[in-house]
Amino acid sequence: MSENQNATPDADDTPPAESASETCCGTSPSDESDCSGKPRRNFVVEFAAAAVGALVGIVPAAIGGLFFLDPLVRKGDKQADPAGNSEDTGGVVKDAQGFIRLTLGIDALPEDGTPVRYTVRDDIVNVWNKFPNQPIGSVWLRKIQDQVLAFNTVCPHLGCAVDHRPSEGDFYCPCHTSAFDLDGKPLNVIPPRAMDTLEAEVRDGGRIWLKYQEFRGATSEKVPV
Ligand code: FES
Repeated sequence: MSENQNATPDADDTPPAESASETCCGTSPSDESDCSGKPRRNFVVEFAAAAVGALVGIVPAAIGGLFFLDPLVRKGDKQADPAGNSEDTGGVVKDAQGFIRLTLGIDALPEDGTPVRYTVRDDIVNVWNKFPNQPIGSVWLRKIQDQVLAFNTVCPHLGCAVDHRPSEGDFYCPCHTSAFDLDGKPLNVIPPRAMDTLEAEVRDGGRIWLKYQEFRGATSEKVPV
């Protein structure tokens, strides 16, 4: 027998065992580790947690974004009226020049020109809110033949409300006794100017349209504010 036949197999002759990384991938469908050595079950749980976390973050962010952009994306609820003006549903009717259609017709004013006080309303709109049909001021209205003469009731002296005195046939401010005739002209030296007239038109078979404005007080000039 030769020397080679009696020799015990050397450890170096044994085929090397495969490393863990070479044997873990795809060796068995039931293997619970992935190629990085992490248990596959942990990977699924982490993925599900990340998905739920993203959902929890995205939904409130989307709702907040819609709320923030609402005034920009909201379509106007204006409807064109037959006269070519615009109408806010549930609000006032106002044209492109700023004339507000009053709920009053010229026929409701006394033929003799006696002043009638009227509260003007408008839709108050800011970036986020709309408050329809809110009082924004008041005016004195007089019928002069088929036209309407309108005055702001704010006193041009220091801003009190001017009353009508039927007994005196004038307008009168109780704060500092400014007085005006029925055409708005000063009757004493207290007011710095006449009462502030406003643009008014009669349209639509008698409906009064008014451009409401306010003006700076305590000055001889009629300066819109
Ligand atoms: S505010 Fe009217 S008289 Fe002074």
